[in-house]
Amino acid sequence: MNPFKIDGIVDGADYMPRKESDELLKYHKAGRNVLIRGPRRTGKSSLVVNTFQNVKCQFIRVDFWGVKTEAKAVEKIARAFEPFCKKMPILSGFNVAGVGLQWKSPEALSSVEDLLRLAPDLHKKKPVVIFFDEFQALLDLPDSDQFLGALRAEIQAQQEVQYIFAGSNQNRLMEIFYAQRSPFFKSAALMEVGSLDHDTFIQWLEAKFSETGRSVSPKLWNAIFELSHSIPGDVQDVCYHLWNDSEEGREIGAEDFGETLQRVLHERASGYEGMWNMLTDNQQKIATGLARYRDDKYTSSEFMQLSGATSPASVKRGIEALESKGLIWMSFKHWIFSDPFFALWIVNSVD
Ligand SMILES: Nc1ncnc2c1ncn2[C@@H]1O[C@H](COP(=O)(O)OP(=O)(O)OP(=O)(O)O)[C@@H](O)[C@H]1O
Ligand SMILES: [Mg+2]
Repeated sequence: MNPFKIDGIVDGADYMPRKESDELLKYHKAGRNVLIRGPRRTGKSSLVVNTFQNVKCQFIRVDFWGVKTEAKAVEKIARAFEPFCKKMPILSGFNVAGVGLQWKSPEALSSVEDLLRLAPDLHKKKPVVIFFDEFQALLDLPDSDQFLGALRAEIQAQQEVQYIFAGSNQNRLMEIFYAQRSPFFKSAALMEVGSLDHDTFIQWLEAKFSETGRSVSPKLWNAIFELSHSIPGDVQDVCYHLWNDSEEGREIGAEDFGETLQRVLHERASGYEGMWNMLTDNQQKIATGLARYRDDKYTSSEFMQLSGATSPASVKRGIEALESKGLIWMSFKHWIFSDPFFALWIVNSVD
């Protein structure tokens, strides 16, 4: 079976332990709330979940992904708390179909504080760590200021409970914590999570290949990490495809790597073409520039030349549009493609 996991939180043998756990545990011991910041798919969620697996605590993870209403946000919190509470004092239960909640009180908004107030009680038995993942989704609530304000007030009152925040959209997450008017303004210690340690990660990946009877030519690692911009999720993605095309007992070499890339691009060509045709002329230019350019000076004459953009303003507009479509994201000052194979397709297919 393919040993590479390319999506979502990894644990057990699929997770490579990382040194950032020590830093997180220090904050845990000091009882400080933490905001985890880092580019997409670098392993923020996996880090938090795995760090607390061997810690004596009640670890409660709430994933706010896709939440659009206050009621849904409250429901997500209630469901995450439920396994830890024998009786939910403010809930009569979950609806039979598993959708929605039956409240003892009809006041859904005041209930978010009531719900969170369960935490200090639980804490009396065993320390409580609450991990709010995809926290930026709360900005999409109709009255997000009020909801976030209520959360903040309750969190601030709970000195004994540790809260950890993370999310996949860094700009929006920063909006919650660093915008002056935000109720969360500078309320948590900031922890940066970047790529995994390069050499240790390579050894870990090599072991995955060798445990399944394969090996990779050492010369390939540079190309693999370059294609995936060292983003752990994307590195695993490339390894996943290399493994799929490999044979037991054989070393994967440069030629195999080239063939795998061609296969993936070929399989995805019609999807990529469709995506490409939906971009405006300016967006196509900027995407071409970004796929070819490795530096971070996006208004430089070199970038203008590579992309064919007509002005810095059109570069800015193009980047904003590509970001809002989810095609690119910012990783340590560099705009990179959400799908590294799409960038490669652009370089190969667009003049
Ligand atoms: N410590 C690790 N060991 C092995 N693989 C990892 C590790 N951390 C991350 N990955 C790879 O990255 C992928 C994404 O991990 P995870 O969802 O934890 O990242 P994230 O930073 O929370 O992503 P997002 O920004 O989308 O929320 C995993 O599915 C896995 O392929
Ligand atoms: Mg995550």
